[in-house]
Amino acid sequence: MVLGKIGFDMAKKIKVGVIGTGMIANHAHLPGYFSIPEEVEVVWLCDKKSDRLAENATKWGVSKTTENYHDLLNDPEIDAVSVATPNLEHMQMTVDALKAGKHVLCEKPLSMNADQSKAMCRAAKESGKVLQVGLQYRFCGPGMFMKDYIANGHMGDIYYGRAQAMRRRGVPGWGVFTNKEKQGGGPLIDIGVHILDFTLHLMGYPKPVAATGKTWDMLGKNPEITNFMGDYDRSTFTVEDMAVGMIRFEDGQMVLLESSFMANIEQEFFKTTLMGTKSGAEVCPGFSEDPIVIFSERDKQVFNERPVNIPDVKSSHVKEVQEFVRTIREGGESLVPGEHGLILNAIFDAVYKSSETGQEERIDLSY
Ligand SMILES: NC(=O)c1ccc[n+]([C@@H]2O[C@H](COP(=O)([O-])OP(=O)(O)OC[C@H]3O[C@@H](n4cnc5c(N)ncnc54)[C@H](O)[C@@H]3O)[C@@H](O)[C@H]2O)c1
Repeated sequence: MVLGKIGFDMAKKIKVGVIGTGMIANHAHLPGYFSIPEEVEVVWLCDKKSDRLAENATKWGVSKTTENYHDLLNDPEIDAVSVATPNLEHMQMTVDALKAGKHVLCEKPLSMNADQSKAMCRAAKESGKVLQVGLQYRFCGPGMFMKDYIANGHMGDIYYGRAQAMRRRGVPGWGVFTNKEKQGGGPLIDIGVHILDFTLHLMGYPKPVAATGKTWDMLGKNPEITNFMGDYDRSTFTVEDMAVGMIRFEDGQMVLLESSFMANIEQEFFKTTLMGTKSGAEVCPGFSEDPIVIFSERDKQVFNERPVNIPDVKSSHVKEVQEFVRTIREGGESLVPGEHGLILNAIFDAVYKSSETGQEERIDLSY
């Protein structure tokens, strides 16, 4: 028997259950687990919609199914679960799974708000199990290239970041993304979470101390306005359609965050702009013809540089799942720990609150 660093029998397959079999389970979690069949066996699927559950059980060849996630948590064979349900469900499912001794890969955002994320971080700490947040962009090629570039000191100290996830007509037409009760918010918490995480990851996850911001809901509710990402019921649209936040960090850095489902702009952005003492950079973690441009100066000559050997990562979703499995097998800290999910939720809470109060709001990360 070959044991990993934490005594995990490396010949043993990790047995997994996936809770929620909707869009992201089918595009990220299940392809990720099935990409390493020698290491993982998906034993259970769970969804409260019986027809979707049956369809996915056949599609993925998984024999055990349930509409009640406690069934798979009660199975002693299960080592780990994916939580791929709407945000409202993340906290209870994750806490229950950790208490049942399972490792958890929980979709982003970690939860609806900082209080819920604190409970999840506490449960992870008490259980000693892995809690990883589904923030896959860290594993994309441009992200990996820039992380090395920054670690090698080429940007100097990064003191300002601009994180933009701006869609022109991009309200998700599936799921419950327009329902504040089930999601906790709109583009800020849904897509802003990705670009802010990516920005903070490249900046070394500085500790936020306060944020100010504003949200609007001027377009998303209006039935006269078109949408490019499917249809949805305008009368039940209860989230913001655009948010802007300015976040202040302990060591003096600042980040401007802009996020929209709908905005009257020509060009959509999913981009991070970083300004450092030695160079600056624009980085697009999604699909882009021009994913990285670096702004530098040498001997009074000023350059815009485009790297040519950006790692070719076919699917950052698959890579994130493989990383979760590697952490379980080998031990050590998750590369996307629950604490980062908590930082993001605490920032969003402050931006939403600031939008109501008109004041800068303090951020408390203690749990
Ligand atoms: N990482 C990414 O890029 C990314 C992309 C899209 C969505 N997401 C996240 O994934 C999560 C799910 O989004 P989605 O697009 O897959 O939504 P979805 O609506 O397609 O799927 C969610 C599934 O969860 C099921 N479900 C809801 N409550 C349940 C319960 N109590 N028990 C069992 N099943 C339940 C629903 O029936 C549905 O099948 C959200 O948190 C969202 O933010 C992440």
